[in-house]
Amino acid sequence: TQNIYILAIESSCDDTAASVMLNGKILSNVVAGQSIHEAYGGVVPELASRAHQQNIVPVVHQALKKANVDKKQLSAIAFTRGPGLMGSLLVGTSFAKSLAFGLDIPLIDVNHMQAHILAHFIDEDGFEKPPFPFLAMTISGGHTQIVKVNSYFDMDVIGETIDDAVGEAFDKSGKILGLGYPAGPEIDKRAKLGNPKAFKFTKPKVEGLNFSFSGLKTAILYFIQKETKANPDFIEQHLNDICASIQYTIIGILIDKLKLAVKETGITHIAIGGGVSANTGIRQALKNGEAKFGWTTYVPKFEFTTDNAAMIAIVGYLKYLEGDFAAQSVTASSRLKI
Ligand code: KG4
Ligand code: ZN
Repeated sequence: TQNIYILAIESSCDDTAASVMLNGKILSNVVAGQSIHEAYGGVVPELASRAHQQNIVPVVHQALKKANVDKKQLSAIAFTRGPGLMGSLLVGTSFAKSLAFGLDIPLIDVNHMQAHILAHFIDEDGFEKPPFPFLAMTISGGHTQIVKVNSYFDMDVIGETIDDAVGEAFDKSGKILGLGYPAGPEIDKRAKLGNPKAFKFTKPKVEGLNFSFSGLKTAILYFIQKETKANPDFIEQHLNDICASIQYTIIGILIDKLKLAVKETGITHIAIGGGVSANTGIRQALKNGEAKFGWTTYVPKFEFTTDNAAMIAIVGYLKYLEGDFAAQSVTASSRLKI
């Protein structure tokens, strides 16, 4: 059989990433983060696209070198078309188009949100692939969705956030507490050392399978303002308990919606993806769901949770097998839907 080499490029937000895949297996997965945004407490789009321009050539070179693959061996170039920040997407899109044109090989456009889900189909020892249909919950700094996945490219979004993404709930809560950006990983770390029931935050009331996180952020802000007025050292004295309580509330919101989605669809196979699926509390809650609710859960390898190009490569590979290529006239699309 033919060997299919895919070079994939991801540049939708603040990570410049490239990956080389051979027949569904990852040969290299390179990510260059952008620490410049830490000083601003969030991603600054203009700085992100400039950093992508600086990083993209070295990142692609490194991915090819690590994979020990020459660009002349490549079968196709896959790239993230959207959704994401327009300036960031344009860098990856233009680069991929030029490279595919120069090498005279197919170009494959990839939807970033589909990629977070299809990351589960990367060939990886010890990781099982979910059977169709399954439910996917994509939780990141930009998105919060529950998707019914009927097949590789037939997906229905059955629930999503009406305001902030779950990653923003972590990051904005962290900002209130004076933690660095992004705060998700630190809240996770501190939550392990705290009491999740120390403080109670009410869960939002949102119909059906949709989510809302902006009210929680406001509730946390008022709570902290009130407590620090009475005791200026409140945050310092209770930081681990506060983090544990915030994380406990967020996990409760996610698990409640998953339970409802299972009830409505009758599907008990659940996969998670996106940066927030790195959270140890969420991983544990899902595992508990196996015994408690009869779920079968799928958690991706850590390096495929936050933004990466390996997930773009697997979509590129699946589309290559179907002969689903993009024209040279393809353009980036910041609001691309699943
Ligand atoms: O998927 P991702 O890398 O980028 C987006 O597409 O947004 O997700 C980044 C988000 C950030 O909000 C970050 O705080 C969150 O994922 N995150 C976490 C953890 N690791 C990353 N949130 C909670 N716990 C973690 N361990
Ligand atoms: Zn993402």
